[in-house]
Amino acid sequence: MSLPNPQLLKAWKHVLTLSKVKAGEAVTLLVSSNTNQDNQAAAYLAANELGATVTVVSLPQINTELSLSRDKTAYVGATALQNNKAALAALQNSDLVIDLMLLLFSPEQAKILESGARMLLAVEPPEVLMRILPSQDDKRRVLAAEHRLKRAKTMRIESAAGTALHCEIGGYPVISEYGFADEPGRWDHWPSGFLVTWPNEKTTNGTVVLDRGDIIFPFKDYLRSPIELDIANGYISDIRGGQDSDFLKSYMAYFKDPEVYAVSHLGWGLQPKAQWTALGMYNKEETIGQDGRAFYGNFLFSTGPNTEAGGNRNTPCHLDIPMRNCSVFLDDEPMTVHGEVIPEDQKAVA
Ligand SMILES: [Fe+2]
Repeated sequence: MSLPNPQLLKAWKHVLTLSKVKAGEAVTLLVSSNTNQDNQAAAYLAANELGATVTVVSLPQINTELSLSRDKTAYVGATALQNNKAALAALQNSDLVIDLMLLLFSPEQAKILESGARMLLAVEPPEVLMRILPSQDDKRRVLAAEHRLKRAKTMRIESAAGTALHCEIGGYPVISEYGFADEPGRWDHWPSGFLVTWPNEKTTNGTVVLDRGDIIFPFKDYLRSPIELDIANGYISDIRGGQDSDFLKSYMAYFKDPEVYAVSHLGWGLQPKAQWTALGMYNKEETIGQDGRAFYGNFLFSTGPNTEAGGNRNTPCHLDIPMRNCSVFLDDEPMTVHGEVIPEDQKAVA
């Protein structure tokens, strides 16, 4: 194992300290063959230097027959932890699990968290982790937004491009991500800085117009032509536009599952260190695109599963779609207007 870059080691110690790693704790690294070796080495050393007892659990990659991409967010639901009681027991008996392979949306992740273990996902390349170092101020602003979102009964989104969407909320939990896991049973993701909830079933109606420059994950491209989505009773009922629309329609149809058209989590980005442009600097297999999901003031629209929120819609196709220049209202109070964050307690210091 090569020695980690000192700056990366310092970054890992910063985040593990924010995650309250202390002497005597059991920290487990969850890795796979595609885990970034620099991150693994730095995480291992950082946890050791903080006095933790560190274990590495290595599992095979899973890429089911249906997945059209190596991106780990492209096909959700099944993980290498399925039917692996020994690995699951090790993770459940950890104080902190550092997920360097990506267990999102899995029932196994829920079992690990139920045991009280903290979980921190980190799969972006080292330079992205170092650039988007989380802070206590990120936590303060994201939790201020979480406090507001938990009280809301309705969410409305508008844009000059033509988006006019309305839904009722409150039936599902709010999930906030500020970049470190500092409470028992907390899952978080470095880097991040946003929050989401899921609309109440069958209450989302209106139109979403994805504009030029908006991003669809896991495609990892900036749209070059608008796509118009009609939403009726919580499901996409029509998709219109040019070539980008044809691509989206064909990709979703491939799964032959009506649940892929459901509206999934909705939220907004609060991370000023995340950049809308960053995705354009990478080839598609180098990043899962956290810059795109977290950039300050984006409206994050998504489709597909709700198992992460405790629902039972376990469809494998999940699209995260960060949109620029939107206005997001909770019970008519603006959270963003034309992509600018409005509440004082959510604003980042310039
Ligand atoms: Fe998502």
